[in-house]
Amino acid sequence: MTEPDESGTSLDHRRAPMIEHIRDLRARGIVPYLSIGHRLGVAADPEIVALLGRDLFESNTWVSAVEYDVALHEAEALAADAWGADRSFYLVDGSSAGNHALFMAALRPGDEVIVSRDVHWSMLVAIIISGATPVYVSPTLDQELDVGAGVDAEAVRRAFAEHPDARLVVIVSPSWCGVASDLAAIAEVAHAHGAPMYVDEAWGPHFHFHPELPASAMASGADASVTSVHKILPAVSQGSVLHVRGSLIDQERLATSVRMMSTTSPMLPIVATLDAARRQMALGGEQRLDEVIRLSRKARAAIDAIPGYSVLSAARIGLPENRQDLTKFVIDAHHLGISGYDLEHRLNHEFAIGVESADWRGVVANFNLGDTDESAGAFVDALRAIAASVPAAPESVLNARATGTVLGLPEQAMTPREAYFSPSRQVPLCDSAGEIAAELVTPYPPGIPVLAPGEVITAERIAYLEAVYARGAVNYGKRKDAGAASIAIVDRGGALRD
Ligand SMILES: Cc1ncc(COP(=O)(O)O)c(C=O)c1O
Repeated sequence: MTEPDESGTSLDHRRAPMIEHIRDLRARGIVPYLSIGHRLGVAADPEIVALLGRDLFESNTWVSAVEYDVALHEAEALAADAWGADRSFYLVDGSSAGNHALFMAALRPGDEVIVSRDVHWSMLVAIIISGATPVYVSPTLDQELDVGAGVDAEAVRRAFAEHPDARLVVIVSPSWCGVASDLAAIAEVAHAHGAPMYVDEAWGPHFHFHPELPASAMASGADASVTSVHKILPAVSQGSVLHVRGSLIDQERLATSVRMMSTTSPMLPIVATLDAARRQMALGGEQRLDEVIRLSRKARAAIDAIPGYSVLSAARIGLPENRQDLTKFVIDAHHLGISGYDLEHRLNHEFAIGVESADWRGVVANFNLGDTDESAGAFVDALRAIAASVPAAPESVLNARATGTVLGLPEQAMTPREAYFSPSRQVPLCDSAGEIAAELVTPYPPGIPVLAPGEVITAERIAYLEAVYARGAVNYGKRKDAGAASIAIVDRGGALRD
């Protein structure tokens, strides 16, 4: 502990223990006689070394689990302090691992969990692994704009009325479209029933550091949350952090679960970038975000002014401004007469611009800390140029953004775990109506399952899936052709699982 620094706490946020650890090992010239992943790239292919840089290999050095743990725990204590948690765990397997660990810690097989249906694939995997029974609530939908407007506390209250023994409430906030739920209100409902609230805040690692962004999970009374630092702040892919507070979730059990669900071979550079991102946020995060928000507001207004486009805002779906992540651009282009897939393709190929995702209606993009007037301007100019080249002919589009919820809550014939472990067989998707899904069917992005194991497959869902596959969506985890063609169903005839 030191004197309070500019972050206002008594921990020294100028420090970055994981960076110090790597520097120290490199200065000591440790030659690790252990797995070659830690062997400083000695035998690595020269092309890969030239491409990635020798520093990457030399920073993945190792001397002992003890020294690593000391540095990690110091780094995690700083993270907990920065995000307002009691305890934080750095994850090198993304927020996916955090979802798995939380379910393993907070639930036992058969426990009911109230969960919004717009969950990421990894949450359904957590349900299968833990054996919990999901009680789904739907986010409120804005039918016209085709987006979820967050989960209503009332919906959670109704779920408790029917399932008073539910052990946990799980909310995805912000949604894929950057819309935050009223977490404080939901936490109140959960706590009134003695249940903790867990927030999948994968897309909101920055919320805690700026008052104009939605209130963060930790600031809203959540008992635990996970956030993909790598999605919005300057950490490399896979770098996430899981936070826990209070006594409703057993913190020691969670620590054990994190270890159970994580690789035993962490890549040090991932952890070091988490440490560095935390330092940037703790020291002057608000000023850095000021700039991104300024650029975002300006670009939002400019894109809205281009005929054919509209950018999602909280006001458009009747919410206060602080319920929408201003740095997220959910751009509706269907009035241009162009699908989001085509728009993404043109941005990629004509303007060398990548976006987070595309769907039928438009594209989703993020502005980040590194954005400047030039990068923001280039994005707006590309959209303007495309709009100018498209003859106006509105295309009819299907609902796409709130995948998995827009079709209504599915009928659950079995729990996800029962269905996943039942005998199953593959059938053509087009012949599967009335069957029970035995796998996750998840057009990606955004990675929200349209079908989960145990759910009854309907003609409407088949039509939806066929339509999005035909437009270019990929079934996560499958080859493009295989994903569209078939589906694993529960074999009610008792045939062996293939
Ligand atoms: C809501 C949500 N949760 C969890 C994840 C998984 O995060 P990660 O890629 O860090 O494992 C994602 C990824 O897109 C997501 O959108």
